[in-house]
Amino acid sequence: MKKRAMHRRVDGETKVEKLVITGGRPLRGSVRVSGGKNSSLATITAACLARDVSVLENVPHCRDVLVLKEILETLGARIELKHGRMKIDARPLYATSAPYDLCRRMRASFYTAGLLLGRMRRAEVPLPGGCVIGARPVDFHLRGFAALGADVTTEHGFVRAEAKRLVGTNFFVPRSSVGTTINLMIAASLAEGTTVLENAAREPEVVDTAVLLNLMGAHIKGAGTDAISIDGVEELHGASYTIIPDRLEAGSYLIAAVATGGDVLVEHTIPEHIGALLTKFEESGAAVERDPDGVRVRAAGSLKAVDVDTAPYPGFATDLHPPFAALMSVAEGRSVIRETVFESRFGYVDELKRMSADIRVEGDAAVINGIPKLTGAPVEALDLRAGAAVVVAALAAQGTSEITAVENIDRGYEDLETKLTALGADVKRVETTEPPQAQQRAG
Ligand code: EPZ
Repeated sequence: MKKRAMHRRVDGETKVEKLVITGGRPLRGSVRVSGGKNSSLATITAACLARDVSVLENVPHCRDVLVLKEILETLGARIELKHGRMKIDARPLYATSAPYDLCRRMRASFYTAGLLLGRMRRAEVPLPGGCVIGARPVDFHLRGFAALGADVTTEHGFVRAEAKRLVGTNFFVPRSSVGTTINLMIAASLAEGTTVLENAAREPEVVDTAVLLNLMGAHIKGAGTDAISIDGVEELHGASYTIIPDRLEAGSYLIAAVATGGDVLVEHTIPEHIGALLTKFEESGAAVERDPDGVRVRAAGSLKAVDVDTAPYPGFATDLHPPFAALMSVAEGRSVIRETVFESRFGYVDELKRMSADIRVEGDAAVINGIPKLTGAPVEALDLRAGAAVVVAALAAQGTSEITAVENIDRGYEDLETKLTALGADVKRVETTEPPQAQQRAG
């Protein structure tokens, strides 16, 4: 991805970018998935626990990764990212306070709390901002830090956590939170004694972080199950590691393939990471072929509406709910998508309605009556995955759609237009002088 300024002031006007998509072309061919964005955010931070150099491969060049890089550089780390290889020199890391301006842009910035508490025994980190997908507090993280023996206070928008000694403990992770599990694994790796996380999240990103930490000399067992034990060590060393493929990016391209009546091989993905999605494709009548390094989907005849309940891994990922809803908008029949992870994940609904979708929110569910064709319209990428939903809808729609607030999509999709164009889509990124309709949302 080229470096871009998303909002540029030129002669007093603010320049913003939008995506212009003319839909109705079936996507065909193959696309290679980038490294996991969420895995990268966790592993890059974890690598900074060592007073040493680590090298991560397959790191995506997307906005969230670049913001995290900047945050860690502000703390003193020296980081280079070139062609997917990130060299992290965490020896010079010295600061204990993370910068508000950068941290407020991204929820995963809160991983610096676990990092600083583990490595420096002191962390001052801004509360990550609220977000359109739900309240997303950090209370579980804070309870976990306190259980490890830290004094934790929240004042003036900052969390302060301090500990003379961090001591292993048993902690029950409420609601199987991914962020809490990762943050506590990071902090507890350098604690004294053993920490056991019960009801731990089982997401592949948790496993990836544990694998890297173990390569760095940590003693973590059970990642991928709901009981993770971490035997603290005195210090960690640098390591080299390749980040897993991005299962959410893979899922998004597969959904776009089916929505456009296409035939796409998504390469370099791990089929088990998107098992719940693939089962839903099969239920709805799409043809799925799994092989060890990729997944091919083909729209085979008419697509039937199916119901979905989102759930923690290995259930149907909440992040794939919005793009899947776009797909169900053009399926035959009625689909109910129930959201169980984030209470306000329905921002995309009004955008899809602009494109003629017949969709309404009832309590915690989106109820969708499929129609034969969506129509192109001006729409907004309200957050990262709502952005994926409008891209899928625009690709499937008749006519042209203009998508604003593209910076939200750029947070997690590397080279989106290049990849879609290679699959036969008509996508352009254009610069306009219109003001952005939405503020950037924390992810
Ligand atoms: C991670 O967010 C991902 N982000 C999200 O992906 C993803 O949607 C989510 O996990 C669920 O899979 C990153 O990995 C950077 P949680 P996270 O803690 O860790 C509640 C994307 O689009 N909760 O598992 O923040 C919370 O409100 C992003 O790539 C508390 O109440 O999610 C939610 O309802 C968006 N208090 C539930 O738990 C807490 O202290 C699960 O959240 C923590 C969480």
